[in-house]
Amino acid sequence: MAVERETRNNLVFAVNGERFELSTVDPSTTLLEFLRSRTRFKSVKLSCGEGGCGACVVLLSKYDPVLDQVEDFTASSCLTLLCSINGYSITTTEGLGNSKDGFHPIHQRFAGFHASQCGFCTPGMCVSLFAALVNAEKANQSEPSPGFSKLTVSEAEKAISGNLCRCTGYRSIADACKSFAADVDVEDLGLNSFWRKGESKEVKMSRLPFYNRNKEICTFPEFLKKEIRSSMLLDSKRFYWYNPVSVKELQSLLESNETNDGSLIKLVAGNTGMGYYKELEHYDRYIDLRYIPELSSIRRDPKGIEIGATITISKAIEALKEENKSEFHPKSEMVFKKIANHMEKIASGFIRNTASIGGNLMMAQRKNFPSDIATILVAVGSMVYIMTGPTCERIMLEEFLERPPLSSKTLLLNVEIPSWESIKNISSETDTMLLFETYRAAPRPLGNALPYLNAAFLAEVSPCKTSDGIIVNNCRLAYGAYGTKHAIRARQVEEFLAGKILSLDVLYEATKLVKAVVVPEDGTSYPAYRSSLAMGFLFDFFSPLIDNGGKISNVLLEGYIKNVNAYKTNQNHVQLAHDNLPSLLSSGKQVIELSEEYHPVGEPITKSGAAIQASGEAFYVDDIPSPENCLHGTFIYSTKPLAWVKGIQFQPKPLPDGVASIITFKDIPKGGENIGSKSIFGTEPLFAEELTQCAGQRLAFVVADTQKHADKAINFAVVDYDLENLEPPILSVEEAVKRSSLFEVPPMFYPKQVGDISKGMAEADHKILSAEIKLGSQYYFYMESQAALAIPDEDNCMVVYSSSQVPEWTHAVIARCLGVPEHNVRVITRRVGGAFGGKSIKAMPVATACALAAHKLRRPVRIYLDRKTDMIMAGGRHPMKITYSVCKTNHSSKSAMRAPGEVQGSFIAEAVIEHVASTLSMDVDSVRSINLHTYNSLNLFYESNADEPLEYTLPSIWDKLAMSSSLHQRTEKVKEFNRDNKWRKRGISRIPIVHEFFVRPTPGKVSILSDGSIVVEVGGIELGQGLWTKVKQMAAFGLSSIQCDGVGDLLDKVRVIQSDSLSLIQGGFTAGSTTSESSCEAVRLCCNILVERLRPLRERLQDQMGSIKWEMLIAQAYVLSVNLSASSFFVPDPTSMQYRIYGAAVSEVEVNILTGETTILQTDIIYDCGQSLNPAVDLGQIEGAFVQGVGFFMLEEYLTNSDGLVVAEGTWTYKIPTLDTIPKQFNVEIQKSGHHQKRVLSSKASGEPPLILAASVHCATRAAIKEARKQLLSWSGKDECSSTFQLEVPATMPVVKEHCGLESVERYLEWRMGRK
Ligand SMILES: Cc1cc2nc3c(=O)[nH]c(=O)nc-3n(C[C@H](O)[C@H](O)[C@H](O)COP(=O)(O)OP(=O)(O)OC[C@H]3O[C@@H](n4cnc5c(N)ncnc54)[C@H](O)[C@@H]3O)c2cc1C
Ligand code: FES
Ligand code: FES
Repeated sequence: MAVERETRNNLVFAVNGERFELSTVDPSTTLLEFLRSRTRFKSVKLSCGEGGCGACVVLLSKYDPVLDQVEDFTASSCLTLLCSINGYSITTTEGLGNSKDGFHPIHQRFAGFHASQCGFCTPGMCVSLFAALVNAEKANQSEPSPGFSKLTVSEAEKAISGNLCRCTGYRSIADACKSFAADVDVEDLGLNSFWRKGESKEVKMSRLPFYNRNKEICTFPEFLKKEIRSSMLLDSKRFYWYNPVSVKELQSLLESNETNDGSLIKLVAGNTGMGYYKELEHYDRYIDLRYIPELSSIRRDPKGIEIGATITISKAIEALKEENKSEFHPKSEMVFKKIANHMEKIASGFIRNTASIGGNLMMAQRKNFPSDIATILVAVGSMVYIMTGPTCERIMLEEFLERPPLSSKTLLLNVEIPSWESIKNISSETDTMLLFETYRAAPRPLGNALPYLNAAFLAEVSPCKTSDGIIVNNCRLAYGAYGTKHAIRARQVEEFLAGKILSLDVLYEATKLVKAVVVPEDGTSYPAYRSSLAMGFLFDFFSPLIDNGGKISNVLLEGYIKNVNAYKTNQNHVQLAHDNLPSLLSSGKQVIELSEEYHPVGEPITKSGAAIQASGEAFYVDDIPSPENCLHGTFIYSTKPLAWVKGIQFQPKPLPDGVASIITFKDIPKGGENIGSKSIFGTEPLFAEELTQCAGQRLAFVVADTQKHADKAINFAVVDYDLENLEPPILSVEEAVKRSSLFEVPPMFYPKQVGDISKGMAEADHKILSAEIKLGSQYYFYMESQAALAIPDEDNCMVVYSSSQVPEWTHAVIARCLGVPEHNVRVITRRVGGAFGGKSIKAMPVATACALAAHKLRRPVRIYLDRKTDMIMAGGRHPMKITYSVCKTNHSSKSAMRAPGEVQGSFIAEAVIEHVASTLSMDVDSVRSINLHTYNSLNLFYESNADEPLEYTLPSIWDKLAMSSSLHQRTEKVKEFNRDNKWRKRGISRIPIVHEFFVRPTPGKVSILSDGSIVVEVGGIELGQGLWTKVKQMAAFGLSSIQCDGVGDLLDKVRVIQSDSLSLIQGGFTAGSTTSESSCEAVRLCCNILVERLRPLRERLQDQMGSIKWEMLIAQAYVLSVNLSASSFFVPDPTSMQYRIYGAAVSEVEVNILTGETTILQTDIIYDCGQSLNPAVDLGQIEGAFVQGVGFFMLEEYLTNSDGLVVAEGTWTYKIPTLDTIPKQFNVEIQKSGHHQKRVLSSKASGEPPLILAASVHCATRAAIKEARKQLLSWSGKDECSSTFQLEVPATMPVVKEHCGLESVERYLEWRMGRK
């Protein structure tokens, strides 16, 4: 018995059915830290560490012994504290299946739908889907067909709407999820490896890996249920973690000596607040509030709904949506439902499942968090119940928010949302009606993004008894999150409106008052935009009550108001109300043409390793177990762009917890160099010496016993800077030009002039003499941040595992830094969790710093950069201002990002064309068509490696796309739409691309093992782009030419192994899209050698035996000592080193004039892939690159402060596309353009150019804005539109709104009033 009691005092939980018991743990330990460092379940990935990406999602299951029920929900393990899950069961994707015991259908379908590229997001995606499947089973819905779940298509999409993926573009992931839905039409599902085109629906359904609902994984093991039934206590003292079960107990805890000894205490519910406020304090004790019944119950009575403070947002949504009790007036139910709908846009499902209502309000109260909950609850007159010591108070939420920050011991007990009837005495005769609406404008419609502003309006209105029209009896107008300390009520506006008959004049005055009230605090971004949103929302709320012409009768009012929403859906209105959640991707079509000529090359086979990526078995650098004595490092970087560094110290302690050493340039060994990276432009130092060159530059490398300690330590570093005798830093292109701080452009990059520009300009009828275009930078946002592990080896050698696109150069840099010969260094790279150019140059210093530290300390040293440091040091895409050439500044050095230069170049060309069209008042598409290269004009630019006439496919793609996308009909429809709609405008745009590629030399090695299995090494790195898959296909094709039995099945015998810079030298860069094909060619050359060596033996054996099987042939070759390993170094011949690809896209967008939100309604792409090596892989590249381009052109602001230090340093401020921001209809056709003698099996690359096609979205947005501007001018009585304007990149919501007119509401009302 004694033993049993002791057991229960420990922390006990299950992970994937395995029991874990801990007798002690630091209470600040997160579930993610524990899983990754102390279990074999490494599928939970760390990507953002702040709740914003979903890479770390796990399924948490909680057992209620009284009801004998299990509750299953997702949570972000990076924010969940380990002590808070005592008695829980955790399921990760490893728990669903694996390569040994069999994959789960989720894993199989993710692989089969080509929904995993780098795979870093895939485990989190799989768990999010699994949770949705588990919970759908609990719903009371009809039985689905065998093999399907109870999930609906829309639920399936929403299941992953908060998870980020940087590679795929989401369409394929959505398909994998939807394939489980009961209501899915399999014909709507995209390209997959399960069925072939033309198969019947029934056959298709039968080909999906079977999902057996009745045999689903048990999420809660029996043994844990038993333990819970017989009590499950945590020894509070040992864990410094308290679980009080009553308010009284909590009070006495807060008062007790134990907690009043000066130690820091943290009250905690879901701990998601840590995602925003990355507190550095060390708390001595934690008090978990979730076991106190008063705080964790929901009470409903006629007065309203009382929600306990620890109730999660998800639970609150359920309660607010609960309809079956007729305890409330329908109007109250409407209000509750709308509050719930708004709450569904807070964060993402996996955050809402643990984030509490109380935690949110306390963050708003104490730390000015831009809360949605506070705003919407203020609008409905909510009350809160708080307790400080023995004093309890029930106060209005508004007052609560207005008070000075409450003490850390003040407790929020609950919040009360009143029913309307409790504050208003309504009888059936009354003609008073209630209106309620909530609003938020955020970069992502479905949430997972803080709003620029939120609002909620409640109004009681009735028909005017003395005249036509509607009278506002009273209203509550709440605004928040716009750069204010807390949510406010616009009381002046409320008072102004009270008792007024709504009219244009009244609304006009009201909006003006709003503008004066909603004033963002100094330092808030886009203040004018936020104020204009406030006006726009008010206008949206009240204007339907005016636009009826004032002729409403008393009797009709109720019906009228009921119809307001219907009225709003009439596209003439704004339709901002968030009644209906925005729909996600509706559909996509993929057209590919298969070729069997080089079987299995050319087939859309599943990506190599996709299933183990889904099951979490795939290893990335940070998944390699730490060797004994391993230390962890991170960088101290400069925050000043140009300053002398006089010293670095830590405060308050000279050495923060766990820190073992600080490495600077002084630690570079004798004979070594201070070198961190090299590129064709030269080298960069590993660490700044005396003088910093940019903010974000590496100053030192802090090494500690854990990554957490290292990451924490850098926050306590104090760098002593001195600006003495220094010129001001150069932080703008203009300044660089002024001070002649220019790079030498290597002659090979000089542009070749074609034609005589001066003559052309002189003879032109029209001229545009000067124009300026600005493009921002872009952060790679690979899901796996930079990582390395350096292990000292015998005889002064160093083995370094690096997440690098260029191990060869990393290798060379490490050797130079350590001052050792290159044969002392070995760099190993297996797979990289996304790169996009960011892990070429910028991965080198990360690996080098680890190697240097390991060299100095003679211990293994690893690093996994936290997202913030990664974002600050990454550099990103080159921003550009066109009119000047390349300039030298004190900004961090930028590095190539997917389609470097090309994307800017193409965009500039498109902007010029738009400018020309608008100057000439011509249709842009016609100008583009006229300016499309002819075959002859193209070849003027590419003389030495010109295409054959038939290879120039752009004109045919251009025309075909017009047909397939119904461009001309849709252009007419867009015009019609724009005529009929005031507050939404559409634009459609078609753009072409011509993108040149360079093929680089690449090594390869193919070896055949004694059982006939094949192992392949190539210079290229698997970054998620499918290089291994194509290489596998090529190896199988290449060896199949031996023509013996069984060579048709060689594909399964091929394994591509990690790159090892000593095993295969001259690996070069994996960049520029062509490494897959050059690696394939290197492999083909190796296969040719092997086939030549094997042929005589095969002929002899075939003569003797009639036929010979592959395995037998190889066994005999071993006996006869045939050399079965061949290496090659593919060097492209000069005439095929360069080639071009062609493609085009049409995008149609809709712009909301009041908010600046742009929705991509449809995108159609045709892309010439030559003869694709793997159409599924290429399709994934096209969709993924396009969506990354949407991020660049529309969403991603990589902002810096006035010192050039990156301030967009995480998922809170940097918004990559999510499922809800991709085209609603996304059609891609891969054009097979026949034979190209000089290409690798006639193929062409696909990695980068499609990114440029996203410029079509930007151009379409510009077209829509143009319409809005035209309309705005007409409201001001001007007919002519000054139609030329430059739309910045990215065209974010504030930017779009600004161009549409920040004052569009005022102008409209003035226009209407003038006409009256
Ligand atoms: C990625 C992400 C996106 C988000 N997006 C949004 C958004 O769009 N809109 C929005 O409104 N919110 C958003 N949030 C905020 C989220 O709603 C809050 O983080 C969450 O509700 C806090 O609840 P919690 O239980 O996790 O609190 P905790 O993190 O446990 O606590 C937060 C703070 O409140 C204190 N506290 C908690 N409960 C009490 C109590 N009962 N009495 C006294 N003090 C208490 C804690 O001591 C702590 O200081 C987002 C959060 C994340 C992580
Ligand atoms: S790592 Fe946890 S949500 Fe991003
Ligand atoms: S596959 Fe999703 S992030 Fe790479």
